[in-house]
Amino acid sequence: MTEVAETLIQIAAVNKSFVSGPGRVDVLHDINLVIGRGERVAIVGPSGAGKTTLMHILGGLDRPSSGTVHFSGEEIFSFKGQMLDEFRNRTIGFVFQFNQLLPEFTALENVMMPALIARLPKEEALARATTLLNEVGLGHRLRHKPGELSGGEQQRTAIARALIMNPPLLLADEPSGNLDSVTSGEILALLDGLHQARNLTMVIVTHSDSLANRLDRIVRVIDGRIAPD
Ligand SMILES: Nc1ncnc2c1ncn2[C@@H]1O[C@H](COP(=O)(O)OP(=O)(O)OP(=O)(O)O)[C@@H](O)[C@H]1O
Ligand SMILES: [Mg+2]
Repeated sequence: MTEVAETLIQIAAVNKSFVSGPGRVDVLHDINLVIGRGERVAIVGPSGAGKTTLMHILGGLDRPSSGTVHFSGEEIFSFKGQMLDEFRNRTIGFVFQFNQLLPEFTALENVMMPALIARLPKEEALARATTLLNEVGLGHRLRHKPGELSGGEQQRTAIARALIMNPPLLLADEPSGNLDSVTSGEILALLDGLHQARNLTMVIVTHSDSLANRLDRIVRVIDGRIAPD
């Protein structure tokens, strides 16, 4: 188990409801969670339990209805407008449940995108994206568009894109979902390697027991609540 030295993320008393059409859907209830720097946490639980909702709040992509999320001691939802976007761009790599690669762009261009948005020089973005795609084993697929990549290759491209700004935190929502066990094993080995090389803090939603068991801690979400150990 990774030594938990310092708190990176603290989620306190988070509730989330959505107002949709005729009614209100209460999705998360009193979520409290502390994650240490360098820790690898698996989020597991049934479909509809609220895992993706929790990840979006953790990643600053959606606001809680109440409660707070502190990152290195700072409340992220106190950042106004563009500051939150910049914080996210610098600090959090996000691998979405459905990888959300841009279909018109090549793997290389997809991976470069966050760096270009952060206004890194194009040469720097290109160099980083090329290195990362090599690191995830896709050096031979740089010019392929997502539709010309396999599911596992698309996920690896999404992981490379999530890491281009060198974030201290990787959030991955089912990075091995819909993949066969060999390909999931490869994604797992890739994440292991990245964790070792960069001391990445990782929060990974997964339905795979074998993936969850290889991380430092398993957090179970059931009906929008964290189940006791
Ligand atoms: N924008 C929204 N408006 C209304 N309800 C929503 C919204 N987003 C999610 N929900 C509801 O919140 C609940 C939790 O959704 P969420 O996507 O977080 O589940 P999940 O645990 O990630 O499930 P899965 O394993 O299937 O991906 C679901 O019942 C869903 O219908
Ligand atoms: Mg989900």
